[in-house]
Amino acid sequence: MALAKTIASVYDRATELKSFDQTKSGVQGLIDAGIKQVPRIFFINQSKSIRKTSNSLELPVVDLGSTDRALTIEKIRMASENMGFFQVVNHGIPLSVMNEALQGVRRFHEQDVEIKKRFYTRDASRPVVYNSNFDLYTSPTANWRDTFFSFMAPSPPPPEELPEVCRDIQIEYSNQVLKLGGLLFRLISEALGLKPSYLGDLDCDKGLAFFGHCYPACPQPDLTMGTTKHTDTGFLTVLLQDDIGGLQILHQNQWVDVPPTPGALVINIGDLLQMMSNDKLKSVEHRVVANEKGSRVSVACFFSNSLAPLTKLYGPIKELVSDENPPRYRETTVHDYMQYSLSTALDGAPRLLHLKL
Ligand code: OGA
Ligand code: NI
Repeated sequence: MALAKTIASVYDRATELKSFDQTKSGVQGLIDAGIKQVPRIFFINQSKSIRKTSNSLELPVVDLGSTDRALTIEKIRMASENMGFFQVVNHGIPLSVMNEALQGVRRFHEQDVEIKKRFYTRDASRPVVYNSNFDLYTSPTANWRDTFFSFMAPSPPPPEELPEVCRDIQIEYSNQVLKLGGLLFRLISEALGLKPSYLGDLDCDKGLAFFGHCYPACPQPDLTMGTTKHTDTGFLTVLLQDDIGGLQILHQNQWVDVPPTPGALVINIGDLLQMMSNDKLKSVEHRVVANEKGSRVSVACFFSNSLAPLTKLYGPIKELVSDENPPRYRETTVHDYMQYSLSTALDGAPRLLHLKL
């Protein structure tokens, strides 16, 4: 009996996932259809549902406009070693550009569904990939989130292939983030005790992917999750969130809220930088909880360089290893690590274990 029941529910799930996918309109499509209950494909495992937290944490704020470069580097070093996350202000990206980036992502997700559907795909080689849950068929639970993304550097798609409702701001915002990345990688190089151009010379700041997330308001937010816990796979992430909130990071074994700070950008260390720093800098787990308040949008820009020459190998940086601190990871191409990450679901074993020596 029990077995038959298990098989039946597994079968149902596969069918339900497929019919959800085939709507090509994501979670937003469910809301548009007026659903009042969260479908079960989105349910989180109850044992993991202890998700409300009263802990909120002021992430270290790094003022990039400061003239005290040594202090800036020290703050970045401490935050990257201890929390894996920090915020930046006076980062050079105008508030108007940030707001327009969020508005552009909102316009994409709220546009006419027939136009939006044309971008719906699971083929990552397309210039724009829009879908709900990249790991829909491999993850134990679907997330309450829709996403579109494009690789914007080093070789962006022709502008006319980007979504009309947001292409201008995608290009403008990505260019601004690339410039900011140049500065951040110089500061992080120095925080590691390396010359400022070290990480840039390795092309860490050259590849950028633009992800526009939408977390529609959820009628039963305790039953599901906006983004399941994960680490980011690239070198570094620049996150722009709107004022709704919901981002949490795992700090000292506790989930803590990262409340939005107007005008600030959230920066976090990715797996590849943790690996290259031989675990000095931390790629920290984070997630996004679903909310009832309203539809939340965010822009996550990943420095990941996946279109760079495929043969270039990245491993623990020679200057950072020694007899006492031997390399903990084997070398990889960015492409191989990205492919591996894409093939795993969020919430699995830490993906960096894949490279562990
Ligand atoms: C991500 C991510 C957080 C957010 O895209 O990897 O963690 O607030 N996003 O959307
Ligand atoms: Ni992330």
